[in-house]
Amino acid sequence: MSNNLGIVILAAGQGTRMRSARPKVLHSLADKPLLRHVIDSAQALRPAVLSVVYGHGGETVPAAINDPTIQWVEQREQLGTGHAVEQALPTLRGLDRVLVLYGDVPLISAPTLARLLEQGRDSALALLTVALAEPFGYGRIVRDARGAIQRIVEQKDATEQELEIRETNTGMLCADRASLERWIARLDADNAQGEYYLTDIVELAVQEGTRVQSAQPRFAEEVMGVNDRLQLAMLERHYQRSRAEDLMRQGLTLRDPYRFDLRGSLEFGPDAEIDINVLLEGQVSLGEGAFVGANSVVRNSRIGAGVQIKENCVIEDAVIGEGAVIGPFARIRPDTDLAAGVHIGNFVEIKKSSVGRGSKINHLSYVGDSEVGRGVNIGAGTITCNYDGANKHKTVIGDDAFIGSDTQLVAPVTVGRGATIGAGSTITRDTPDRQLTLSRPKQQSLPGWKRPVKTPKGG
Ligand code: UD1
Ligand code: CA
Repeated sequence: MSNNLGIVILAAGQGTRMRSARPKVLHSLADKPLLRHVIDSAQALRPAVLSVVYGHGGETVPAAINDPTIQWVEQREQLGTGHAVEQALPTLRGLDRVLVLYGDVPLISAPTLARLLEQGRDSALALLTVALAEPFGYGRIVRDARGAIQRIVEQKDATEQELEIRETNTGMLCADRASLERWIARLDADNAQGEYYLTDIVELAVQEGTRVQSAQPRFAEEVMGVNDRLQLAMLERHYQRSRAEDLMRQGLTLRDPYRFDLRGSLEFGPDAEIDINVLLEGQVSLGEGAFVGANSVVRNSRIGAGVQIKENCVIEDAVIGEGAVIGPFARIRPDTDLAAGVHIGNFVEIKKSSVGRGSKINHLSYVGDSEVGRGVNIGAGTITCNYDGANKHKTVIGDDAFIGSDTQLVAPVTVGRGATIGAGSTITRDTPDRQLTLSRPKQQSLPGWKRPVKTPKGG
């Protein structure tokens, strides 16, 4: 947006109320650290410099975020929000404007920040404020009789009358860079908490004749901070609901938007549909008319057009071809590629395998490290014995093969094209094309055999 914009994210605080060994800003919302949410919104504004002030948790914070576009600034002692911003000033030299954000306020959106920047265009200082029914704990925005902002007073420093004010400080602000430096140099810690309050710059700006501007967020949740796990869960719910609503507006059918979680990104074609209690993680795409059944988890996978995923499936790092039918109760593990029209039924596990067009594995099977051709039918209870205790081996099944139920294919092994394997076989050597191979003792019946009977007791 502006090449002369610098953004500072404050993330040095401890977050005692999380009662966690992990720094607060690294706790996850929708599988992404709180701080990363803020960074993503900040980066959407294309700042010339993005600085993050860190402290508690030390180097674990920069290491976990691992983003070379960020200037990391350590604040060794947390002496207040004014002191925190001061630490970042050297990274902002030569810039026109500065936007201050908070690492524990994850849902701040780029459109709201754009509005704040707009207010800061003609004023040396613009604040993001929000009216709250219960403003307890927040700094209050003190305005004069004509509505001009005079100063911010913290909860702990406020008079009875000031505590009645509903308009609160979100902490986020946009300031002229040179003015900010001048104001910060004049801050003192003469207040109830003995901290350098960033909020005191408001009074200094007003003294210089600045007309302080303000903007408001679209939703109160955008400016809500995370202090404990309860607040984290509430923001997660808000986030999930608003993403579900966005997806539905874009044409996705969610049978119940309140029972849907997306921890990552979703692309979908027309008329894709998702039943209740579905969890999507990482990057997922659903083709036109694809359906994901209730209680399924899909992670980093491409689901083709018209695919039916029935209830209770787990699919991870897989590609599912058009019109395939999966489940119920199927597990598709990483590096699996199922071609169009494949059927995978209940209690079937597929790992690191490709399955050709139209092949069926409908019941109770394990297929791992395999290359299964087209038109193959794998009977119930078939197992590829891919692991010898030390190494994994490959199973190759030719096109149109028929594997009888309860077969073990001891890898490495190849089943020929059009081959038939008799039920209950243990196949340890390659089998020829188009022939019947079976390995089981001949069935026999013993004429005249008598079933034993119990000897009577005490006889
Ligand atoms: C601050 C504001 C208050 C506002 C509230 C909104 C001040 C003095 N008060 O109060 O007006 O209503 O936020 O939530 O600014 N931080 C650092 N280094 C520090 C101190 C804080 O990085 O030395 C970070 C914290 O990690 C946190 C943020 O700054 O993310 C806010 O600090 P916190 O102490 O929670 O400020 P509040 O007292 O809530
Ligand atoms: Ca706070």
